[in-house]
Amino acid sequence: MRITIFGTGYVGLVTGACLASSGNDVLCVDVDADKIARLKQGEIPIYEPGLETLVAENTAAGRLSFTTDAGQAVAHGTLQFIAVGTPPDEDGSADLKYVLKVAETIGQHMTDYRLVITKSTVPVGTSDKVRQALAGVLAERGSTVDFDVASNPEFLKEGAAIDDFMKPDRVVVGVDTERAADHLRALYAPFNRQHDRTMVMDIRSAELTKYAANIMLATKISLMNELSQVADRLDADIEQVRKAIGADHRIGYHFIYPGCGFGGSCFPKDVRALAHTAAKIGYDTEIINAVERVNDRQKTILFDKLHAHFKGELAGKTVALWGLAFKPNTDDMREAPACTLMEALWAAGAKVRAYDPEAMDETARIYGERDDLVFCKHGEDAATGADALVLVTEWQVFRTPDFKALSELMRERVLVDGRNIYKPSYVASAGFAYYGIGRSAAS
Ligand code: UGA
Repeated sequence: MRITIFGTGYVGLVTGACLASSGNDVLCVDVDADKIARLKQGEIPIYEPGLETLVAENTAAGRLSFTTDAGQAVAHGTLQFIAVGTPPDEDGSADLKYVLKVAETIGQHMTDYRLVITKSTVPVGTSDKVRQALAGVLAERGSTVDFDVASNPEFLKEGAAIDDFMKPDRVVVGVDTERAADHLRALYAPFNRQHDRTMVMDIRSAELTKYAANIMLATKISLMNELSQVADRLDADIEQVRKAIGADHRIGYHFIYPGCGFGGSCFPKDVRALAHTAAKIGYDTEIINAVERVNDRQKTILFDKLHAHFKGELAGKTVALWGLAFKPNTDDMREAPACTLMEALWAAGAKVRAYDPEAMDETARIYGERDDLVFCKHGEDAATGADALVLVTEWQVFRTPDFKALSELMRERVLVDGRNIYKPSYVASAGFAYYGIGRSAAS
């Protein structure tokens, strides 16, 4: 099949490379000429395991190419994917101007049938707006060419996006014609393992499915984080509680890890956006609003623990941070708990020494050069001379440190374990004051 993808961000690029690898002829288009030039050279603008190789293989095989030429892009694919950004407005609603601009562009250039598929995460009802925008432009042109719209939300996790695309739990397809359903069933057939995973439904249900999935997951995390706060105050150990409740299949072991709050480009934005959509139609969401409030509070927990340990005297202290990205295997800093922590530490007069395997460039880009932020070569380097060490992101490289050696490098032995990855009694035996999330140092 011939496929065009508008937007070479995270979703567009992964979708393009994966669809090319199943034998399609994919053209990715972006207005950012610099980005397209770099992609043509094989340079990938984001860090995602496996993506660079996949892009290189498919480009070399002639199945994947890049352009800034919108006319060429519309002419290329019978299937036109919209995977451009939907940055949140100030009130939390998604800004659709880029999505609708693509719809207009397709309307300006198309000369025969096109199936226009929205892949960006967009509020329920956006496909109708896409249809209107496109039809409006066609009417202006006096054109009567036929088109369909569809919603095909993505369920990729950063750091595991290729695997998620190639081996999906399900593919959600929202359509209102059989013709559109047939195109999308055929496109995704190579990704069905053992049984058909494509779920065809109406367009609004498909749009809502994306939000529902993310909000269900975000709720699990906020609920666990809230329970961890209760455990902390009751002197119970949330890790033992987690293992015991996860054994019930209805609860399950996935996505019930307490931590220092969820971040990234999806959960925080989608939670806010659905609450906003509901409010606009007169429904005040209660659980969804609470998920956001609990998360905001959880993101201050690392600072609160340091503040309590040092009895508020953080001025002049040096704090080592292990991990900056909102989760491992990404360089994404959006809504990262590390940002909340660093900003609070700086406001209290403390200095930060940080190490992250991938996200230091991005952090430097956000905060610029400043005396109270030092980027380090590795974890031990960051800990050297520090008064406290905070594990913020559970990268593999931080899992089994030599605590005895670390204790000799540090000025004071304080460890805040923001992801509960260490055994408190073991860390304490190396002389550290240990603070986890919802667990006592004795566990
Ligand atoms: C999330 C969803 O998991 C994907 O299914 C979805 O497609 C994607 O959003 C999206 O809408 O595009 P992602 O944001 O990449 O993916 O990251 P996750 O791995 O889901 O982690 C989200 C946050 O939850 C991270 O901050 C992570 O540290 C936190 N988390 C996750 C916990 O605190 N506890 C857990 O048990 C699991």
